[in-house]
Amino acid sequence: MALERTLCIIKPDAVENKRAGAVLAHLEDKGFSVVALKKIHMSQEVAEGFYAVHKARPFFGELVDFMRRSPVVVAVLEKENAMADYRAAMGATDPAKAEAGTLRKLFGTNVGENAVHGSDSLDNAKNEIAYFFAASEVRPTA
Ligand code: CMP
Repeated sequence: MALERTLCIIKPDAVENKRAGAVLAHLEDKGFSVVALKKIHMSQEVAEGFYAVHKARPFFGELVDFMRRSPVVVAVLEKENAMADYRAAMGATDPAKAEAGTLRKLFGTNVGENAVHGSDSLDNAKNEIAYFFAASEVRPTA
């Protein structure tokens, strides 16, 4: 298995509920390294740009408003098989359908307010990491 990186966003609901530290601890316990980390408050432009792929969805406006409601924590996670393993750690998009012990089951509320985001492919992980982090903020790969 290859050493990979993926993007994690701890969403406004989880940050407001003071669960950001718990999310990071949960991921570190599962073997992920946090190689870059910051707390940001997304502008309308940044949130719309990040979720541009969902622009035509009926929930787009609601999604952008939610992601701008208060600050988020963005992190670059590194681990062997990080992309798929982090998706497994997050659980299903809808917390009601997520497996016990997953981040969305533990900390999510509903399909809109589901505590965490994760990249869904290695290509998207690369693009999403570059969307939030300058090259100088991320340790170069070995
Ligand atoms: P995320 O992984 O951040 O990527 C897109 C997000 O859209 C997803 O998590 C959900 O939080 C959100 N989403 C998906 N379906 C719905 C829906 N029906 N209503 C509101 N938000 C949704």
